[in-house]
Amino acid sequence: MKKIYIGKKKYIFNEISSTMDIANFFIHTGIEEGTVVVAKFQTDGRGSNQRKWLSNGNDALFSIIMKPEISLMSTLPIISAFSIYKVLEKFIDTEIKIKWPNDVLVDGKKISGVLVENHIKTDNYSIIGIGININSDHKKNNTFIYPSVSLKELLNEKIQPLEIVEDVLKSFENIYNEILIGKLKISNLSDMLYGLNKRVAFRTNYKSFDRQSENAFYKIISLNDDGTLEVLDNNGKKISINASEIIT
Ligand code: BTN
Repeated sequence: MKKIYIGKKKYIFNEISSTMDIANFFIHTGIEEGTVVVAKFQTDGRGSNQRKWLSNGNDALFSIIMKPEISLMSTLPIISAFSIYKVLEKFIDTEIKIKWPNDVLVDGKKISGVLVENHIKTDNYSIIGIGININSDHKKNNTFIYPSVSLKELLNEKIQPLEIVEDVLKSFENIYNEILIGKLKISNLSDMLYGLNKRVAFRTNYKSFDRQSENAFYKIISLNDDGTLEVLDNNGKKISINASEIIT
């Protein structure tokens, strides 16, 4: 199988609306898989669930253009979160967890978020947007759902965001290629899950007869290889939930 290289081509901007917008523009110019768009500042940074992604400066803000098989698209958030996890664990002694499907938490505080936009109409492609709090200030004005934190606040020293971007791209490249050749299985990453074996509240976006709607409490069992999450519902029934079914 052909190895996919990530970040061989990088476009670095001082200020743009969002790296997602530029990556989406580039895809229509026939750009290579693995191309990366990095921004120092975004005027319209996007988070999941129509939220804004705010960065008051010197954070890692980037998007990776991917052209995976459609069946792999649902695995991209967890592969990305795990790639970030592997880089952060080199810097931090405190507990790092992945809040499925796309948040990375340090001691329960959000340090990074992943936003994946999949396009499956004429052209099949995915844009992975990654924001990592590197030097921003989170002690006051904490407006995220979880309390948030930056690497600088954890280490008491400034870090070059581009160094972390490079590390995450390498880490993503390794992990993605290992998944492609079957050397690594997503189900083996379950230990990193926030709330493993506990009942966790999920805001679901469906109302159906056999599953709870809105705030459902599910006991987290494990990750499935397709990136879905195996949980026990309130009746003790095993179900697999897909990231598109919940509001993150
Ligand atoms: C989340 O809500 O947790 C996902 C946040 C994703 C933010 C990143 S920053 C780089 C890329 N460009 C954006 O506009 N959003 C993503």
